[in-house]
Formats: sequence, structure tokens, C-alpha cells
Amino acid sequence: MGIEIIPAILSYTKEDFEAKVRLVQPYVKRIQIDVMDGKFVRNKTLDPAFFPPIPSGLEAQYHLMVEDPLDFVKKISHKGAIYEVHVEALEDIGSAISQIRKLGGKAALALSPDTPAQAAIPYLGQISHVLVMTVYPGFSGQKYLASMEPKIKELSLAGAKVEIDGGVEVGTVRRAAKAGATMFAAASAIFSKPDPKKAIEELLQDALSAHSSA
Ligand code: DX5
Repeated sequence: MGIEIIPAILSYTKEDFEAKVRLVQPYVKRIQIDVMDGKFVRNKTLDPAFFPPIPSGLEAQYHLMVEDPLDFVKKISHKGAIYEVHVEALEDIGSAISQIRKLGGKAALALSPDTPAQAAIPYLGQISHVLVMTVYPGFSGQKYLASMEPKIKELSLAGAKVEIDGGVEVGTVRRAAKAGATMFAAASAIFSKPDPKKAIEELLQDALSAHSSA
């Protein structure tokens, strides 16, 4: 089933970025790094030029909420990483996927709330997974959009591996897992809690409970 809780690193400084990675590194195999350019979304995170090295053994997904995703793939150039690119920012999705591969990365397609599943379905065979935004991208701490569950289900039934991102917490994980999501990117549900290990465990249990009480 491959249920995975993925801490989302939304940082404005190198120190905050490093502190968050250190906090969760012992408990997960993968982190998601939010990259915002202040144009695609009204928020701007730490420029990739200042990203500290990702500890070896920890895999990274880069969630590119930017107007020019391929420019950021080149800037980040983290071999073997997954780049979650928004279909809303791409002229030619197929060409972007192959360019990411040529640049040594793997592509995933991110769908903002107003973008239908059909935007990603033709590409499922060429991508790692689909990231279904369960908030409007740009900020942490927003409320989960349950209205995204039919989209999660549609993608899951089409054979996609589905990650959700936004308002992930105990309760919403279970709902999204029931709809077919298997990966859950979470920021405030982990970093606003005193014990990240416990927070991650609780989210994992919530996801697993969806399948036991299916
Ligand atoms: C939303 C970002 C998310 C966000 C999640 O714009 O892409 O990764 O950081 O934050 P929470 O988990 O607090 O909703």
C-alpha cells in the first residue's frame, strides 16, 4: 500500500530549512521542499541558491509553485530528485516531463484545486505520481478542501499514485486515504507540534485506519 507521511519544508531562511530537516530526518525517508517564486503564488520561499545540502539517505520532492518550473529544475539540479510541477504553469506538459528526465530528475504533476484530474491522466505512464493540492497553493496552515476527494478517487482509479498537500492532519488524512491517496505532505501538522515523531506516527496511523475501516 506504501502509505507515506512526507514533511513539507516551507522555509524563508537557511537556518529554518536546516532546523526542520534535522527535526524530521530520523523518522521519514522523504521530505517535500516548497519552492515559491512570489509570482505563481503570492509567497516567496528561500531561493534554491541558498538551499543547504539534503542529508544523504533522505529523498527530496521539490514542489515548484513557480511560473517557470524548468528554470527551477535547472537551478536546483538535484540528481534523482522528484520535481512536482504545476500543470497550470506548463505550456507543453509532455515536453516538460521529458526535459526534467533529461536534467536527471523525475517528474510529478501537481494539480491546483480548480484543475481537473483529466489534466494529468494522459501522462500517468511518464510520471512518478500526481500531487493533488487540497488547498490553494501558497501558504501553510490552510483548511483541507474535502471537495478534492472525487478528484483523488478519479486519479487513483485511473492508476495514479496520489499525494495530497494542504490541510493534512489527523482526520483529513483518513478521508483522503479512503479516496485513494497514499502519500501525505504535511507542514503545520508536524512542525507546529512539540513532538514531530509522535505527530508523524499519528498521521500514519490515521492513514492506515482508513484501510482497516474501509
Ligand atoms: C501549500 C504548500 C503546502 C503547505 C502545507 O501552499 O504547498 O506544502 O506547506 O502546509 P500545511 O500542511 O500546514 O497545510
